[in-house]
Amino acid sequence: MYARALCVCLAAMSVVAAEVIEDCKLNSEKLSSTEQALLKRLAPLKQKRFETTFNNGQDSYTYTFVICGHVLNSSVSSNEGLLQNDTKTSKTTVVGRINDTHIINGTDWILLTYGSGEKYDSHCGYEPRKAKVMISCNKNTLGDGFTMVNEERDKENECFYLFEMDSSVACPIEESHLSVGSILLIVFAVLVGVYIIGGFLYQRFVVGAKGMEQFPNITFWRELGNLVADGCDFVCRSQPRSSETAYRGVGDDQLGEEPEERDDHLLPM
Ligand SMILES: *[C@@H]1O[C@H](CO)[C@@H](O)[C@H](O)[C@H]1NC(C)=O
Ligand SMILES: *[C@@H]1O[C@H](CO)[C@@H](O)[C@H](O)[C@H]1NC(C)=O
Ligand SMILES: *[C@@H]1O[C@H](CO)[C@@H](O)[C@H](O)[C@H]1NC(C)=O
Repeated sequence: MYARALCVCLAAMSVVAAEVIEDCKLNSEKLSSTEQALLKRLAPLKQKRFETTFNNGQDSYTYTFVICGHVLNSSVSSNEGLLQNDTKTSKTTVVGRINDTHIINGTDWILLTYGSGEKYDSHCGYEPRKAKVMISCNKNTLGDGFTMVNEERDKENECFYLFEMDSSVACPIEESHLSVGSILLIVFAVLVGVYIIGGFLYQRFVVGAKGMEQFPNITFWRELGNLVADGCDFVCRSQPRSSETAYRGVGDDQLGEEPEERDDHLLPM
């Protein structure tokens, strides 16, 4: 029963994982393992919409960005992931499409690129538009501060629209600070605690012990304590304690005697 529930749960989880990747169709066949790992990291942002307005002289544009999802809610999908809207004329232009996504990362950033946008009318050798979104690590937000940085279109080719935003998903993955050693230590401490408390309760309520006798296996531990103390005494002391006084006594005697002996030797001479 439990096994079946677990299987269903795992199956549901793998479906969700697959969905994330499919929605962000990054030429799924050619997806590298790093890109897949990065997509999983972006999953909490999936389908989230971000909007920003950019004023360029007389012109004003609104850019709408959806992570792994469509900006427009139309039945005929054009895979638009980042859309430009001319505020005056309401003319829309697809800047980047989610079926041509590239994703790279560094220690505290993820760069998401949507290619295959609508072709330039006069710039950049009429190449398709491209959107680059730089996601920087910010632990305090899941996704915020989406703004346009600039549009690079004074080149022959490889032009792009550059955006930036903050997100915690771009932060370095924090690894557990607990090493195997410290986990073992914690387990040991817990076992000792259980032993002492359990033993105490047993001695008190089952055996009916009082005072120090409530301590579990008190005789054994006392003996062990004595043994340890003896061992320590034996190992740590440079001279045995018992013979110490005797030695000093001999030394004192010798100090007292030696001159006498010498005197004895000297006297007959
Ligand atoms: C998209 O359109 C469908 C029907 O055309 C509607 O049910 C749905 O709520 C819409 N979604 C959004 C996000 O507007
Ligand atoms: C992406 O989708 C658009 C519109 O649906 C299509 O014209 C284009 O060929 C697709 N590009 C890729 C690389 O699949
Ligand atoms: C980039 O992301 C991958 C997948 O999450 C991760 O394993 C790798 O460490 C990241 N690269 C850097 C430089 O942080």
